Amino acid sequence: MKLTLSVIKADIGGYVGHSATHPEVVETVKNVAEQEKEKGNLIDVSILTCGDDIAIVMTHTHGVDNELVHGIAWNAFERGTEVAKKLKLYGAGQDLLTDAFSGNIKGLGPGVAEMEFEERPSEPVIVFFADKTSPSAWNLPLYEMFSDPMNTAGLVIDPKMHDGYTFEVLDVYTGKAVRLSTPAELYDLLALIGSVGKYVVKNVYRDYDGEIAATASTQRLSLMAGQYVGKDDPVMIVRSQSGFPAVGEILEPFARPWIVEGWMRGSHNGPLMPVSFEDARPSRFDGPPRVIAAGYQLSSGKLVGPTDMFRDPAFDKARVRAQDMADILRRQGIFEPHRLPAEEMEYTTLPKILKKLENRFYDIEEQRLDKDQVIEKEDMD
Ligand code: F6R
Ligand code: MG
Ligand code: MG
Repeated sequence: MKLTLSVIKADIGGYVGHSATHPEVVETVKNVAEQEKEKGNLIDVSILTCGDDIAIVMTHTHGVDNELVHGIAWNAFERGTEVAKKLKLYGAGQDLLTDAFSGNIKGLGPGVAEMEFEERPSEPVIVFFADKTSPSAWNLPLYEMFSDPMNTAGLVIDPKMHDGYTFEVLDVYTGKAVRLSTPAELYDLLALIGSVGKYVVKNVYRDYDGEIAATASTQRLSLMAGQYVGKDDPVMIVRSQSGFPAVGEILEPFARPWIVEGWMRGSHNGPLMPVSFEDARPSRFDGPPRVIAAGYQLSSGKLVGPTDMFRDPAFDKARVRAQDMADILRRQGIFEPHRLPAEEMEYTTLPKILKKLENRFYDIEEQRLDKDQVIEKEDMD
């Protein structure tokens, strides 16, 4: 039996500001999804929250890009939005960009990560969910999980992993994708995905048999290619164990926090802090960006879980380090490299401010020497 695991997420209202979700809204979304499970449309459902975003984790047999499944998520978010509006939550319905659902939720605002596979005798999966950052935040950890043997010992030791993994990389400006096989094309991969403002890893496949290993929510960026819509708090599904990286190899990159784009006004660089479900409520300078990891065992499509994978004292040091990094960056205030570079600020509200100054720029007359006035050094000898 082919099983589909779909994670669809949206920000349908913040409580307070953009910091967290409201329990009544979460409950409403959950109830709608649960009703669909009772009707037999879904095998199982689980709800996650991170910051001001809600994710619906669903298992079913309808395949990816399915109208019924996407419609369930859309309906759940619409019903949640009604509650958010009633409570006058901040940005109620902000990620539902249209009034009408038209068969596929991609491009309508919510983020989608889905994969279809044959459930193995034991199928551990990790759903990562981040707030105040973009899908390119997954570039570095995906590289480490699936192609860095210093992180993932299995690449060297496990025969099923030894052939490496293929990364599908999306250019968010053109909407075009390229597949690169590692380790052979590792340096090509890094040449692209090191540019986090332009390239995003969409899928990872195991070269041994072509099995899907990981998928991230990038659809909104690709469908709106050409008019980049900025930061999309992302989700990602990663399969684990028995030929995929072990749970510990998948979590390990997060023990060493790195800098991602997002944070305040989607306009700043900041550390990605791994946190427990409870601590996924960014408040300091609307951040710092944070990520949760929800572990599930699938059992004939049932979602056994979630387990709160970052609720482990072994990640305490990463949290402290992330806060030290946050302090260092905050010292820069509105100056780069805390604030994003000018090209990326084009997709924020800053150009509106700069437009006012457009006509006030004037040429500065500088004394210029003609070419024959310049004394060549050797002539002076
Ligand atoms: C970042 C984010 C927040 C807002 C900020 C300003 O992803 O959601 O940092 O950008 O709080 O929000 P507005 O413009 O709604 O006042
Ligand atoms: Mg918000
Ligand atoms: Mg958010």
